Parts: sequence; C-alpha cells; structure tokens
Amino acid sequence: MAIDSAFISDLKFRCPIEEVIGGYVNLKRAGSRYVACCPFHNEKTPSFTVFTDTSSYYCFGCGAGGDVITFIMNRESLDYIDAVRLLADRAGLTMPEDRSIPESNKRQRERMLEMHNISARHFYKNLAAGNNEAVRYLEKRGLTMQSVKRYGLGFAKDSYDDLKNLLIARGYSLQEMTAAGLIVNKNGSYYDKFRNRLMFPVIDLRGNVVAFSGRTLAADGIPKYINSPDTEIYHKGNILFGLNLAKDKNNGTLILCEGNIDVVMLAQAGFKNSVAPLGTAFTVDQARRIAQYAKTVIIAFDSDSAGQKATSKAIDYLKNQGVSVRILQMQGAKDPDEYIKTYGKDRFAMLISQSKTPTEYQIDKLREKFDLNDTAQKMEYISQSSQVIAALSSEIEREIYAAALAKELEISVQTVKADIERRRKIMVKSQHRKVMSAEQQQVVGVGDSINRQRRDNLLASRAEETLIAILCRNPDLLNEITENISDTDFVTDFNRQVFRFVTDSFKNDSSVQNLSFNSVFDSAQTSKITFLLNTAILSDDIRMQAQDCIRTIKSQKTKKIDAAQLDAEQLMSLIKKGDKKDEY
Ligand code: CTP
Ligand code: MN
Repeated sequence: MAIDSAFISDLKFRCPIEEVIGGYVNLKRAGSRYVACCPFHNEKTPSFTVFTDTSSYYCFGCGAGGDVITFIMNRESLDYIDAVRLLADRAGLTMPEDRSIPESNKRQRERMLEMHNISARHFYKNLAAGNNEAVRYLEKRGLTMQSVKRYGLGFAKDSYDDLKNLLIARGYSLQEMTAAGLIVNKNGSYYDKFRNRLMFPVIDLRGNVVAFSGRTLAADGIPKYINSPDTEIYHKGNILFGLNLAKDKNNGTLILCEGNIDVVMLAQAGFKNSVAPLGTAFTVDQARRIAQYAKTVIIAFDSDSAGQKATSKAIDYLKNQGVSVRILQMQGAKDPDEYIKTYGKDRFAMLISQSKTPTEYQIDKLREKFDLNDTAQKMEYISQSSQVIAALSSEIEREIYAAALAKELEISVQTVKADIERRRKIMVKSQHRKVMSAEQQQVVGVGDSINRQRRDNLLASRAEETLIAILCRNPDLLNEITENISDTDFVTDFNRQVFRFVTDSFKNDSSVQNLSFNSVFDSAQTSKITFLLNTAILSDDIRMQAQDCIRTIKSQKTKKIDAAQLDAEQLMSLIKKGDKKDEY
C-alpha cells in the first residue's frame, strides 16, 4: 500500500529524527549533528551520526543510513508500513486508511489472544484445584500460592486433549489453536503442546497473555522448558518475562536474571523488580525494552560459564541503550533462586549492594585469568586492564579506576594514569581514522557495489553525486538545475535514478526532510544516498558549483557517446576486414 506523501510529510514533521532516535540511543550534540554509538553494530566510540538539517542518519562505521522511517524499520525489524504505523502511533496520527490489516487478520489476532486468556485461566484452575503434580512441585521448590497468583502460574495436565477439548467447546478451530502454538499437529493428529508442565504465562505490557513457557514436572522430563513458538501476537526477542509486573515496581532499577523461576522466587523474597528473557539469549530489542523502564539494570545471570558469557553481551547491549549496568556475582549457588533458598534474602540484598560496575567486572575477570605472582602475567594483566579503562569516555571514571589499579599493584598513580591516557589517545585516533577513511573511501570511492558504473566513470559520478547533494540541500535551485540538465544526461544509471527521484519528489514537496528514498530504493541504496547527501563538500558558491558539475557530467557523457561511436566505427571496419578475410 502506498501511503499518501502528504501524510508522510506530516508524520516526519511530528517525529523529529533526533527525538525519535534519541529515544533509542544516547545522542550527544556535535555542532549541527548528533553522534552516538551505533545501535546497528557494536562499537566503543561513536560513528553513528544524525544530521538534523537533512533529517537523516548515517553510521560511518557500518554504513547504515536513511531517514526516521528507515531507522524504525531497521531498529524494530518492521516493514515500511509497520514502521510508519509505529511512528504514527507515537505522533498520535491515524493512518490514512488502515487497509493493510484486513478485518479478518485483526479478528484472527483477537481470537488468538482470547485463546491464550482462556488457556491461562484453565491452567490456573487446574493448579488451584489442589492435590496435583504442580502443587507438590511448587511446595518442593518453596514457591507460595501467593506467587502462583501474582504470576498466574498454572498446571497443564498430563493429557493430550485437556486444553484441546476446552478450546473446541469454546468454538475455536484446530487450525486456530495450532496457529496459536497451543496445539501441535503431527501428521494430521492434533494434541496439546504442553503436557504435565508448570505453566508460566507470558504477559505483554498491556496485560495480554501472549505465550506460555512450560517447565516439566517429570523428574527427568526433556526438554526442561517448552516455550510457545513465535506467532502473530508473540515475538520472543522483544518481550521479557515479568516486565508487566516489574515495570511499576522498580524505582528505576530492574534485576535481569536467566530463569522464570528466578523471577518468581525473587519477587517472593521481596525483589519485585525482576525480569528474565524467555528461553532465548538476551537480545538488543529486550535491552531496548528494558531501557524504557529502568535507568539501572542489575544483571544476575547464572554463575556458570554460559551465564558469564551472556553477561558480557548483556552489558554491551544495555550500555548501548544508555542504561547504567551493575553485575551481581553469586558464590555458592548457581542462580538467584538457589542463592535465596540457601542464604536467604538479606544476603541477596547484600549482593545487590555489592554489585559491580562493568569495568570492575571486566577487570575482575582479567584478574582471575592471570597469575599475579608471575611478573610477565602481571604485566599482561596491567596492560589489559589499562586498555579496558582507556575505553571509558569519562575522564573521571578513568581516573578512579586508574587509582584503584595503581593501589592494587602498588605502582604510582601517575605511571598508570599516563599509560592509560596514552592508550586512550591511540584508541581515539584510530577510531577517528576509521571514520575518516570510510568517509574518504566513499567520496573518492573506487569499488562501489551500489553504483557499479562508478569505478569506470569516477569524474562523472562524483559530479553527479555533488549535484544531487546540492539539489537536495537547496531545493530552491530545482528549476535552475533542471533547465540545464536532465536525468538522461547522467552517465551512471544509479545516480540518474536518484536524480530523477529527487526532481520528481520536489515537484510536489520541495523539502529534503520529506524525501523518502526508502519508498523506492532498498536499504543499501538508501544508506548510500544518505551518505552522499550529508558528506558532499559544498562550496560557498553553490550555484557556480552546480554549473561546474553540470558541465562535467555533460562533457563526460559526450566523451562516452564519442567512444561508443568510435567503437561502432571500429566494429564496422573489422566486419569489413572480416569480409575480405585478410585478417591474418
Ligand atoms: N530455558 C528454555 N529451554 C530449556 C532450558 C531453559 O527455554 N530447555 C529457559 C527458560 O526460560 C528457563 C531459563 O532458560 O527459565 C533458565 O534455564 P536454566 O538455567 O536451565 O533453568 P534452571 O534454573 O535450571 O531451571 P529450574 O530452576 O526451573 O530448574
Ligand atoms: Mn533455577
């Protein structure tokens, strides 16, 4: 569905790019631009740039770029329409005509939500009836009925049709149940997916049950957990177990643990601000979700090596969202549930107060790795720790950690500090060089997978690109430029398409902010165009520069035509020669 361009203009006007992107990453002002660490790739120093004058963004590190809609498409993994819809929601605009969701789809979603609601109540009733496997299991694990109520836990009986029969009686079809992931279809026979399991309903932020996670009640049940598949109403990557309850009870701090049972046990012990990813590795989207509800996150993953590995990733993701991160370390227990059962809630509260900053955590990990009695290893420890500290952007933080490191190793603070600042300089320089060279490479550009003709037409394509940038940034020159050059004069096909798109768009709405390249070009092309738009070096006299570009393009085009004609003549003479058969 094509969306009316007037609507898109209005939408873009109401969704300033720096505000929307600022909601996802921590933007810092740098002149007329804003910079941040790129949300699309992992980096320590910022190369992601938001250009307010052109309402676009570009990352000099990974080459991602576009407008506010492109950003939402990439960031939220949405297609064009859904990205527009999300922004419309945000801006309080109603989509022009909501034709893209047929009524039947909406109804289907509603029925899927109803089925989940019915199932959750049913599982809860099964459990509350008492004297069953689930009740005995909860008792054994020390979970109370109050926790059961709070999280809506339930019991899926050891039956192939308990839920199926109920849903049939309520008027749902087997196809619907299967699509909802509640029923499995194996070679045409339909049966309950969750059997003999303790059921954890997964509840979204609006309070809808959208999925289930079921823990086996059999001593050696495999797999230990079964989770709902992704459906119309459930996308595991961006929901967190317990966030629906924790979001209002957190005072800006959330505890992130690995398991559902950890969440329930923590709440039972009074830590009602706990959440867990569901059966997946912690994702960037989950980090973003969390960042909407917490300023600080305490990571309390399992103490085993898998948990520690996941911790490092979660630190990165959360820091990229501007969340302040603390890491809780447990000894003598593998997870919060076990810890609280063994040592009690007061000791757990103490662990929280002793939780580490990411830098402390990283240095702790290094300290474990090296034997500090061995001089060579000790040197390596200092060197790697200094590198960690050097990567911190705050000078105060670097100072604090430098002092701690100096004290620990009985070296003078000045020496440690000087070493760290030296590393910092190198780091910043190399990052800067990376950005610069990405910038230069594109401007001077030889290899170019987007515009394949660029390599053989450097002079012309550079002039084309500059002209496009001049036009985009000075829409008032539209007539002046199009009177002197048309898209057919362009040498490279890609630039010709871009030029045509811009001139066509400007006929209706001559503002660069409202150019929607992504409605016509794919994401790599859009990134490339955004780059050109924002990095072309424009002189003070843009009119003269535009005329220069036009002259260059036209003369290069003539050369091309001449060459093509020459080739034709040569070909003819070859054919003639061939006719005479006197080639050799
Ligand atoms: N998980 C999963 N599928 C599995 C195992 C685990 O989806 N086969 C997910 C569940 O969400 C679970 C979390 O990973 O809550 C943590 O798993 P694990 O560390 O194995 O949980 P335990 O603490 O051992 O589980 P429990 O306390 O229930 O015995
Ligand atoms: Mn556990």
